[in-house]
Amino acid sequence: MITLRGLTKRYGDRTAVRDLTLEVPAGRVTGFLGPNGSGKSTTMRMILGLDRPTAGVALVGGRPYGALRHPLREVGALLDAKAVHPGRSARAHLVAMARSNGIAVRRVEEVLDTVGLTAVAGRRVGSFSLGMGQRLGIAGALLGDPRVVMLDEPVNGLDPDGVLWVRGLMRSLAAEGRTVFVSSHLMSEMELMADRLVVIGRGRLIADAPVAEVIAGSSRNAVRVRSPRAGDLAALLAAEGVEVVEVEGWDLVAVEVSLERVGLLCHEHGIPLYELSAREASLEEAYMELTGASVEYGAAAGIPAAGAGARAGVAAGLGAVAGR
Ligand SMILES: Nc1ncnc2c1ncn2[C@@H]1O[C@H](COP(=O)(O)OP(=O)(O)OP(=O)(O)O)[C@@H](O)[C@H]1O
Ligand SMILES: [Mg+2]
Repeated sequence: MITLRGLTKRYGDRTAVRDLTLEVPAGRVTGFLGPNGSGKSTTMRMILGLDRPTAGVALVGGRPYGALRHPLREVGALLDAKAVHPGRSARAHLVAMARSNGIAVRRVEEVLDTVGLTAVAGRRVGSFSLGMGQRLGIAGALLGDPRVVMLDEPVNGLDPDGVLWVRGLMRSLAAEGRTVFVSSHLMSEMELMADRLVVIGRGRLIADAPVAEVIAGSSRNAVRVRSPRAGDLAALLAAEGVEVVEVEGWDLVAVEVSLERVGLLCHEHGIPLYELSAREASLEEAYMELTGASVEYGAAAGIPAAGAGARAGVAAGLGAVAGR
């Protein structure tokens, strides 16, 4: 378990991390999301004792990193895959790590095998591709067989096979009861990999909840209806304050209302239904709504912000899916 209490980091007059209080539980994969510059890497560095908090504490298994007797055996991390001596072989790098941390050297061959680098373990790390470097970084994180695994953008640069492999590995580490804390900008991947999410923006906590709960909070969730009496249903929904949007291919699409509510309303008023279906928001849509106001380094023009209740945006987004 990782515990943050009031964790704050200021660089000069800039606050990178602001009063973060949360727990990353064991036995789950927790995704760590937020726009560029929102403070994810800074938070991870403070958890590893690489940066000193301006205020608050970061604890691993209830203790600050500096108080851990065998840090690599308690928390394994990958923050920067390029932070490896390029002239060393992958094996020599891991052996040096093992020796300096009191870890049996035979463990090196196990982790090389786990990450699929055995065949190239004798090669200079400087000749490794981006994905091979990521794999070596993950091998280093696993070396001490730690209870807590923390990875900063581990799937960055990996091919589809590698992405699938990281996902399976994270899931199996969590299934073994370990704490897995992983940052990424790939929302579709996070939706598949994570059980829970911590979302930050400009250093502040925006969400800390199970993935399903974060998605359920999106205004892009909708109920779609095909019915010969859609007009009557629309009037009933409007009377309840439910927003109805126009979407091609559907007689009626209502947002921020449950499938059950629409079904019961139709039943109560004898409105025939040809089709009633739920359109679930993607994590990407939910994330864009949550962080829209916190993006610091956005492009000047481009995709309109997915502000809550932005009617045109909602209809356009839902339409794209309905038309599939
Ligand atoms: N050593 C440092 N000195 C000064 N400012 C820093 C330092 N490290 C980070 N920052 C600032 O802190 C803020 C948070 O940066 P951080 O790297 O933690 O963001 P991030 O969420 O990891 O972003 P990304 O998604 O781009 O990796 C940024 O404004 C960054 O410029
Ligand atoms: Mg970062």
